[in-house]
Amino acid sequence: MFSNWLRKKPIQSHAETSSLHRTLNAFDLTMFGIGAIIGAGVFVITGIAAATKGGPAIVISYIIAGMAALFAALAYTELASSIGGTGSAYTYAYTGFGEIIAWLIGWDLLLEYAMSVSTVAIGWAGYVNNLLHAMHIYIPEIITKNPFDGGIINLLAMLIIIAISTILCIGIKQSARFNTAVVFIKLITIAMFIVVAVHHINIRNWSNFLPFGWNGVMQGAALVFFAYIGFDALSTAVEETINPQRNIPIGIIGSLLSCTIIYIIVSALLTSIVSYTKLNVDSPVADALLQLGHRTAAGFIAAGAIAGLTTVILVMSYGLTRISLAIARDGLLPIALGKINSRTHTPIRIAVLTGIIMALVSGFVPIQYAAELVNIGTLAAFVFVCVGVIVLRITHPDMERPFKLPFNPFLPLMGVGFCLYLMFNLSPITWLRFGLWMLVGLVIYLAYGQKHSVLKNTSHQP
Ligand code: ALA
Repeated sequence: MFSNWLRKKPIQSHAETSSLHRTLNAFDLTMFGIGAIIGAGVFVITGIAAATKGGPAIVISYIIAGMAALFAALAYTELASSIGGTGSAYTYAYTGFGEIIAWLIGWDLLLEYAMSVSTVAIGWAGYVNNLLHAMHIYIPEIITKNPFDGGIINLLAMLIIIAISTILCIGIKQSARFNTAVVFIKLITIAMFIVVAVHHINIRNWSNFLPFGWNGVMQGAALVFFAYIGFDALSTAVEETINPQRNIPIGIIGSLLSCTIIYIIVSALLTSIVSYTKLNVDSPVADALLQLGHRTAAGFIAAGAIAGLTTVILVMSYGLTRISLAIARDGLLPIALGKINSRTHTPIRIAVLTGIIMALVSGFVPIQYAAELVNIGTLAAFVFVCVGVIVLRITHPDMERPFKLPFNPFLPLMGVGFCLYLMFNLSPITWLRFGLWMLVGLVIYLAYGQKHSVLKNTSHQP
């Protein structure tokens, strides 16, 4: 019985046909990566992290969290370019570790992606509502707040998810074009911040560089790790990428390195233009410029933040649909869900279903419940992918690896160490919720997945 649960899929060739369309190039992927990575992490969390954890040394927290992300990114790149598949870590696990572990990883990824989309959509709604207020447009509070926060429904958060899910149904190239346009807007606003901020550097703001000590810097790293989440979504685009063995590594590493440099510059500037003690606000980047009297630039930054959050919702929703598709094609979720529309070449049924679920979560659940689960889900997947590289080098030494992570097993072990350390910094209640989610996943596999597995039925195992 247990050996059936550990049945493995053979490694598939990248050339294998898929009803998805190969239209994405290295530029699209890099833009997708930047689209998914830069969002609430830098526009919202930097301020809280500087004011309460790292002080001006938050720039070091960004470097540490960036290293954890980089180790995981190298591991993702090796597995995405060699194993491929649209299911990311789920597909790698199916090849290397067997069905039940693949399902649990896939179930974990569904949590990570769905919760990050819902969290960012709630943040997006908050920013848009503030902008509307500034324009003297007032939406009744009961439709801007969830029932736990004194309202009935967070309608704006639901609407952005529905809009993005619609774009994803229309087509992948159209989604990529929309993403690139909006990514440009957010990069321009970040450039504007940098240009304005360099004229206001006041080194005295760094005189107390480590107000919370190294402990604060490490806690800050656990917090700002959120800012790096998203590059992993590129690994779900393998089947829609032209020459994935070349373009996926460029996309993942290129976008992560660009964002790391941007984060280091922005966080260093932010704490050098105003005192870190004044950054504990919802929109620290815009707020810092306001404190310096730049009202117009601050308004542009707020618009840039909305653009930034929009692309995070887009790319993470995209990743969620592709992972769900991979799982459904394998029969561990109902196969009928995985039908690709012949006109748009997109999995419309899955996009609609996941869109409805995420819209409901963002409409009725408070942001902190959704946010807490994102980091633990992501870190668990990162640990698994790093371990996966080490194990697959041993079990599949001859597998073709267009991109080979250097210094194996040192680098993946560093990735495991960093990610586990950050996981252990999360609260017990988050671990409990995560455990419950995984338990529900196990029950679903035993009740449904193991019976309907395509691999089981094609390999005639009992
Ligand atoms: N990295 C993404 C963000 O910061 C999830 O919004």
